[in-house]
Amino acid sequence: MKINLCILVGGSSAERDVSFKSKENILNSINKDKYNTYILEVPVNKSSDWVKELINLSPDIVLSALHGGDGENGVVQGLLECLGIKYLGSGVLSGALCMDKALSKTVMRSNYIPVADDILIKKDDPEEKYNEAVKEMGFPVVVKPNRGGSSLGISIADDLSMLDDAVKEAGKYDSDILIEKYIDGREITCGVIENENSLEVLSVLDITTKDGGFYDYNAKYKDDKTKIDFSTLPQFQQTMIKEIAKKAFTVLKCSGYGIVDMIVKEEQVYVIELNTLPGLTAHSLIPKTAYVSGIGFGGLIDRLIEFELKRH
Ligand SMILES: Nc1ncnc2c1ncn2[C@@H]1O[C@H](COP(=O)(O)OP(=O)(O)O)[C@@H](O)[C@H]1O
Ligand SMILES: [Mg+2]
Repeated sequence: MKINLCILVGGSSAERDVSFKSKENILNSINKDKYNTYILEVPVNKSSDWVKELINLSPDIVLSALHGGDGENGVVQGLLECLGIKYLGSGVLSGALCMDKALSKTVMRSNYIPVADDILIKKDDPEEKYNEAVKEMGFPVVVKPNRGGSSLGISIADDLSMLDDAVKEAGKYDSDILIEKYIDGREITCGVIENENSLEVLSVLDITTKDGGFYDYNAKYKDDKTKIDFSTLPQFQQTMIKEIAKKAFTVLKCSGYGIVDMIVKEEQVYVIELNTLPGLTAHSLIPKTAYVSGIGFGGLIDRLIEFELKRH
């Protein structure tokens, strides 16, 4: 018998556009013999209509193509829990925790996972309040919305004169702003998939942007020259990276699947963040890692759904 699968798409976050691209890629990849697929759009404004529709549908399982905001921060997961509807991926606590970069870094730090030094400010804080601390931490710094995604609102400040604009830009997306020490290293990423009794880490991948710049919105979704390929780091280092990715997934209480963003500088591996609902577009890392790892994106979705239905 076919499984009734509901794909949630849209939402109110800045990543709404990305969500539609994720949905397209899911539809193109999914095994059509196995699922009756329903697309349910979550509107920009708060509304109960889509919730009523969801209750009517009463699907066997939900695959959320929502990214950022209420889709990723545990709110939608809480609703699904209340309705008794199964869903793929992390639950309420870990969604909320991972969406808050500063808080998730605190948890990782206390579990001896290396993360970049940072200073958390409010967007309306006067410069005098944080300038000295940032100078002491040392430039360049990466300024980001604390609860952002898709690299929106992120910029690099090389010195004090650039800090103000960077804070203003990040402030368009969140009232809390994280100023992080810039790690000048190689960007890598690693998907983690939960199996019955273990965590499987997909291949470590190197991310190379066209101009060597950071992995910004363009590089993520538009630029065909962004290269994501099997890492060329030595095997011992890849083994260590996989252990760190697993540990991050575990201490942040994730389930199902996730992506751990990291930067390697010399021998040191820093975790940048863990995405509990990473992009699923044709350009995104989970589908790409699934392909380079040989199972394909459709195959990965099958496995995740099978596991999730068995878990309950
Ligand atoms: N501390 C850092 N040092 C160097 N580059 C960084 C740092 N933090 C973020 N970046 C760059 O910015 C990108 C987006 O940052 P990230 O914290 O993952 O935000 P988002 O949630 O928007 O993906 C990273 O993939 C990386 O290229
Ligand atoms: Mg990221």
